[in-house]
Amino acid sequence: MAFLGRWRLWTSFLLTQALELPPRFTLDLRKPAHTRWDGAVDLILSKHPYEESFLPVFQEHNKSLFDQLNASHFDALGKAVSSHYPETALELQGIAQQFAARGFPVTFEYLSAWLYFHELAHSDVVQKLDARECTGIVAETADGSIMQLANMDQSPLAARNLTLRISVVDDKGEPLFEGVDWYTLLSTGVSRAVKRGVASVQENWRSTDPVRKLDAIMADIQSGVISQMLVFRRAFETPSISSFEDFVDNVTHTRLAAPFYIVAAGSKPKQGVAIARNLTTSEKTDWFPSDDFYLCQCNTDRWRPDDPEDPRRTAAEALLGRLGREEATAMGLFAVVSAYPVHNPHTAYTAVMSAATGELHAYVREASCPVDPYASVVLDRRYCLKKDPGVLISI
Ligand SMILES: *[C@@H]1O[C@H](CO)[C@@H](O)[C@H](O)[C@H]1NC(C)=O
Ligand SMILES: *[C@@H]1O[C@H](CO)[C@@H](O)[C@H](O)[C@H]1NC(C)=O
Ligand SMILES: *[C@@H]1O[C@H](CO)[C@@H](O)[C@H](O)[C@H]1NC(C)=O
Ligand SMILES: *[C@@H]1O[C@H](CO)[C@@H](O)[C@H](O)[C@H]1NC(C)=O
Ligand SMILES: *[C@@H]1O[C@H](CO)[C@@H](O)[C@H](O)[C@H]1NC(C)=O
Repeated sequence: MAFLGRWRLWTSFLLTQALELPPRFTLDLRKPAHTRWDGAVDLILSKHPYEESFLPVFQEHNKSLFDQLNASHFDALGKAVSSHYPETALELQGIAQQFAARGFPVTFEYLSAWLYFHELAHSDVVQKLDARECTGIVAETADGSIMQLANMDQSPLAARNLTLRISVVDDKGEPLFEGVDWYTLLSTGVSRAVKRGVASVQENWRSTDPVRKLDAIMADIQSGVISQMLVFRRAFETPSISSFEDFVDNVTHTRLAAPFYIVAAGSKPKQGVAIARNLTTSEKTDWFPSDDFYLCQCNTDRWRPDDPEDPRRTAAEALLGRLGREEATAMGLFAVVSAYPVHNPHTAYTAVMSAATGELHAYVREASCPVDPYASVVLDRRYCLKKDPGVLISI
């Protein structure tokens, strides 16, 4: 018995370290906005203490970004959210209160800045941001159905400990959509989500060229431009957006304060798309190919070759090619997004989504390096190799 007990303890330790299911929260839109997220902060903290979840994330991105903002910026961000997105403001105030009740100094204004983290992180004041990465694959499985797999890569490593699964319930108590993200509680939005019969969707970081000035981004936010984190949630909460086409049209034309890629899949055969968004519209939209079984988007424009420093799309496409249509099952596709460097030390979680069934499966991933990085499908020099061949770095 004692042996079995110890063995159980040991295996559960291994399981939490290697692959973990994020906690699940039901966001019930029938509840008042201010109390809708009650219990969500504790749900995270019951799994991971503040010092190993929120704190390192706040510390890293204060250094990378928020320390560059002053009191008037925070004030203006809070005011912009309150005046243009009053319901979001109430939700964020409710979340700030949950932190305050635990004695953690997280204000509504700070959360308003986090709501616009993506936009502000595209500005000229950002200090250093690595892991501007994500992988999106839309694939047709051997039986003709469409699936989407999304890796979210994010620094610092502790960001993965914030990952939260949400099930959103509408004003009639019916399931509305499913979502997952590491900064859901810092924004009230989700960057990976699925609504049955409509779409599955993710955003991937797209770089601005040239980098925008902080003042220009602030002016957009103050004039009411929506946060990237709310674009999908808002569309999924709108009953008139009821088809894949409606959804794609809405997210293609929603005005933004920073660019991003949108990868989305529908519930019917061949419904898939990768959209390279600029601030007003799509710079280029790639539809699911008629003669192939996958569409892959990482963080470079698909009409350009991969950045040699970041060969993840090359890697994913090579692996999908090796797999072939016959092996394009949920299992085969999960193997692709789990292979280095598609799955790299920054991969916080993987979402597997189907708009046909409304399913969303999310797994928090480990930050690991392969024992032999030279044996991976492409040579990635960023994380697991030193210049000196064969020497592994610890991350
Ligand atoms: C991060 O910055 C905000 C805004 O300046 C501040 O209120 C908060 O205490 C900082 N958090 C940490 C962990 O440094
Ligand atoms: C904050 O910074 C802006 C420049 O980005 C400046 O115009 C403003 O006066 C500053 N406010 C405070 C309170 O320091
Ligand atoms: C996540 O939280 C666990 C404690 O629950 C901690 O052991 C681990 O180091 C944290 N992960 C990171 C990458 O900080
Ligand atoms: C997208 O849908 C939202 C919610 O209905 C709406 O407010 C917004 O104007 C729409 N945007 C576009 C460009 O269609
Ligand atoms: C976005 O791209 C479209 C299509 O290339 C272009 O017409 C438009 O001017 C661009 N918008 C911005 C703000 O760059």
